[in-house]
Amino acid sequence: MLPATKSVPKELLPIGELPALQLVIDEAIGAGVDHVVIVTSDDKPAVADYFQRASWVEEALERQGRRELADSLRRFGDTIRISFAIQDRPRGLGHAVGCASEHVGDEPFFVLLPDELMAAPSLLVDLGRVLDESGRSAIALKRMPIEEVFRYGVVEPSESERLVAGVPAIPFRHVVEKPAVENAPSDLVIIGRYALTPDVFGAIERVVPSSSGEIQLTDALELQASSGHLYGVVSAVGRRDIGHPLGWMQAVVEAGLRHPEHGGPLRNWLESL
Ligand code: G1P
Repeated sequence: MLPATKSVPKELLPIGELPALQLVIDEAIGAGVDHVVIVTSDDKPAVADYFQRASWVEEALERQGRRELADSLRRFGDTIRISFAIQDRPRGLGHAVGCASEHVGDEPFFVLLPDELMAAPSLLVDLGRVLDESGRSAIALKRMPIEEVFRYGVVEPSESERLVAGVPAIPFRHVVEKPAVENAPSDLVIIGRYALTPDVFGAIERVVPSSSGEIQLTDALELQASSGHLYGVVSAVGRRDIGHPLGWMQAVVEAGLRHPEHGGPLRNWLESL
């Protein structure tokens, strides 16, 4: 998404009038989450700025009679706790998750990657149910054309799919980060939603960094799985990867078509093209 992301972190790219990060937080709230930890860095001050109260904007909106919009700007402090964890350098997804450990403490938690948008919170709900019932981490998966799996973590199912808390779940003991297509153990790739047990933090500390110094979450999952299988849940909800232009454009059009005020005019205009 360069050059846009030279100055706007991709998690703040607007999808209609909402930044992507807001949609991801709304997904988490929809799954019952009441505390969000945002792992970010000091060179992206815009992320923390988004959560600051902007009293003068709220007051101006009130004066214009735009109460609902003023309320939507205020909603964070009241409904949900937001914490920030700073990752000083980009040292991989596993390292980023490890940065949140003190805020998370000793309880299960979700990881949501904000450059992937999901159409509904039901995927997180399912992951949480599998974790609660089994006591094992549960990871969202998607079947991908085999020639594209090299961009993702790929799992190797160890047993056939079974119902866990009523959710179809695939046990796995091995997972590999971005394998060459000819070495991929399956076409089941990890997408950006995880429900993790807190022992993953210890596993992250044990991961040997890659040659570029990155600590992969996938490698921590592989370590977790060495003491018993984890579960994968194949997602049934729509997903958009907004980290590349086509995915972002599709996400914007879909959000526009769903928009209560602008959806109709947008549809008419698209049909007229
Ligand atoms: C990360 C994970 C990868 C996963 C992907 C999902 O990769 O390391 O296992 O499949 O997210 O989007 P990244 O996209 O950060 O390179």
